[in-house]
Amino acid sequence: MLKTSGAGDQHRGKGVVVTGGAKGIGLGIVQRFVAEGAFVVIADIDMDAARLAAAELGDSAVAVHTDVRDEAALQNAVDVTVARTGQLDVMVNNAGVIAVAPLIETEADQWVRLLDINVVGVAMGSKVGAKQMISQGVGGCIVNASSGGGRHGVANVSQYCASKAAIIMLSQSLSQEVAQHKIRVNCYTPGHIMTPLWEDIIAGMGDKLGRTRDETLQAFAETIPWGRFGTPEDVAGTVSWLCTPDAEYISGQCIAMNGAELPW
Ligand SMILES: NC(=O)c1ccc[n+]([C@@H]2O[C@H](COP(=O)([O-])OP(=O)(O)OC[C@H]3O[C@@H](n4cnc5c(N)ncnc54)[C@H](O)[C@@H]3O)[C@@H](O)[C@H]2O)c1
Repeated sequence: MLKTSGAGDQHRGKGVVVTGGAKGIGLGIVQRFVAEGAFVVIADIDMDAARLAAAELGDSAVAVHTDVRDEAALQNAVDVTVARTGQLDVMVNNAGVIAVAPLIETEADQWVRLLDINVVGVAMGSKVGAKQMISQGVGGCIVNASSGGGRHGVANVSQYCASKAAIIMLSQSLSQEVAQHKIRVNCYTPGHIMTPLWEDIIAGMGDKLGRTRDETLQAFAETIPWGRFGTPEDVAGTVSWLCTPDAEYISGQCIAMNGAELPW
């Protein structure tokens, strides 16, 4: 189980959905909200990992099979949360995938697949979350996973960078649409966070550059001024804070956590 340093019970009684919550950053966010008193639906396609995570968290979390490409499944994840806690307070649209290839080697169907998960999935998760929060009438928080790659382009990950830039814009637009309902919409833009996602990146980039896994990891780590990869906890603490009253006037923003790796 990942370590977490929850700061008490600031989310006690809240209902939270985290897409892609079974592993990596999403799991860190799930653990943080549970540590701070929330009930969390782990909405993921990897049910083995989701069930394992939920089992470690007892009654405070449940695994719900959710493919973010399916709006009805996203709605179901929200409904499970509401049935348990009476309301949806926080919707974290974290699920995302990466593909590594020079643009000239990509095909249209690969673009459609990635954008379907990374952009449409976040848009529909934001939609069902916002509609539920509007119906409740007491506000709420939507937090979406962008990336440093959404702020500037990176060779060989054009599909990913394009998708993450789209998330910043859809979040900004939605923040203005739902401000009247006291719903806040923000994004997080991590730099290099060590998670299972990196196995895909390392495999793709290592192959292209002729490097081993360790050499590829070392090369990335050397670009980070803080001297190490980030951890899911480095992201989770900020996501939690964004959903507290201390952040009440913060909406339509992107918060980076990147160990001074500017401009990520
Ligand atoms: N790890 C990083 O360095 C990094 C940096 C910037 C942004 N991000 C973003 O943060 C988010 C989480 O990244 P991570 O590194 O934890 O990824 P990860 O690959 O380690 O975990 C992603 C989770 O999403 C789930 N998932 C994948 N497709 C899904 C779908 N269609 N429906 C529901 N769940 C699905 C997976 O089963 C997995 O549990 C992603 O959106 C990613 O793009 C990660």
